[in-house]
Amino acid sequence: MPGIYKAIKVSEHVYWVGAVDWTIRDFHGYTTKRGSTYNAYLVVADKITLIDTVKAPFRQELLSRIASVVDPSRIDYIISNHSEMDHSGCLADIIREVSPEKVFASVMGAKTLKEHFAIEREIIPLKDGTELSLGNMTLTFMETRMLHWPDSMFSYLKEDGLLFSQDAFGMHLATVERFADEVEESILNYEAATYYANILLPYSPLILNLIDKVDRSGLDIRIIAPDHGPLWRKDLGKILGSYGTWAQQKPTSKAIVLFHTMWHSTELMARAIEEGLIAGGARVKVMSMEAFHRSDVAYEVLDAGALVAGSSTLNNNMLPAMADVLTYLKGLKPKNLIGAAFGSYGWSGEAASHIHEVLSAMKVDLVEEPVKAKYVPDDAALETCYALGSKIAEKLREGTADE
Ligand code: FEO
Repeated sequence: MPGIYKAIKVSEHVYWVGAVDWTIRDFHGYTTKRGSTYNAYLVVADKITLIDTVKAPFRQELLSRIASVVDPSRIDYIISNHSEMDHSGCLADIIREVSPEKVFASVMGAKTLKEHFAIEREIIPLKDGTELSLGNMTLTFMETRMLHWPDSMFSYLKEDGLLFSQDAFGMHLATVERFADEVEESILNYEAATYYANILLPYSPLILNLIDKVDRSGLDIRIIAPDHGPLWRKDLGKILGSYGTWAQQKPTSKAIVLFHTMWHSTELMARAIEEGLIAGGARVKVMSMEAFHRSDVAYEVLDAGALVAGSSTLNNNMLPAMADVLTYLKGLKPKNLIGAAFGSYGWSGEAASHIHEVLSAMKVDLVEEPVKAKYVPDDAALETCYALGSKIAEKLREGTADE
């Protein structure tokens, strides 16, 4: 295998030496429809430095790409910006094979790597703001704790104006193109937003602080090199601006009607809510859990102002797919949502109440008590659903008056 894979030069002194995973379709519950990349970078300085590694099965691809530039045994330093296994899964093996002079990580990263991988050799902790001389170049480190793990940090190569941003500004997208400006814009926008919604959304308040910190740092950033997907080298303000927008989660006029139905009664209720929302001027996305994955819902929630969720009752519970998506969304901690619960039932009817409880625990501002319909919703029940849609639309209008 060595010799097959080649490094790709991304700046004057830096090569991309990562791996492309065309087949991965699940990332701890997030469906990765277009695969992913695990980006690692080789800085060819006096001290040859490898920044991050790749997922364990891709170790040979990493070594092959490094070998197309330098013999891997010439690597002096290894820096781990993030301890999650898609970037550190082969770190212990690489350390053994390459035997670098020094290995570095953030303070938390040094601890995590030692505990997780039982790495025996010293991992030197780097405090926020530390500068590391590579001889003729300098790396500066910025702690980005909880973005999205406690160990996460950025590294910045002053000479090339290159920010190694680990998961931040990344996306799960397998491509042969290495730069964002080479990728179709609609795909780029969708995958960047989907990544944010499914990975970074819970940490939005920290993202706002981080953007501010990067801004105040005065660093001359010309390239952003994340650990997944393409690198950003043009119009960096666009991706930074998108992060700022997503992190703020301002109320919008968009409502998601999310449902799962047994015999279409709950679906009829969803459609009536949809009509009420439309009549009230809301933008509406209707999502059946038979047709969408939980990570599609997370993507839609990113710019939504309302979440209306319904399920038929099955064995005194909501249907399993609804429990799945609500559990997932609860963990993502979306903010500034209004909403309501609904659902049909035959005799006990707990589903809508259970959904109401989950939405309440998610701090969704619930505009009504759960709306329920026995067996098949009649005209009166559908009118109630329509009225619920209208009421939510009205509240969205009030909440977005200055949009
Ligand atoms: Fe791409 Fe958090 O690992």
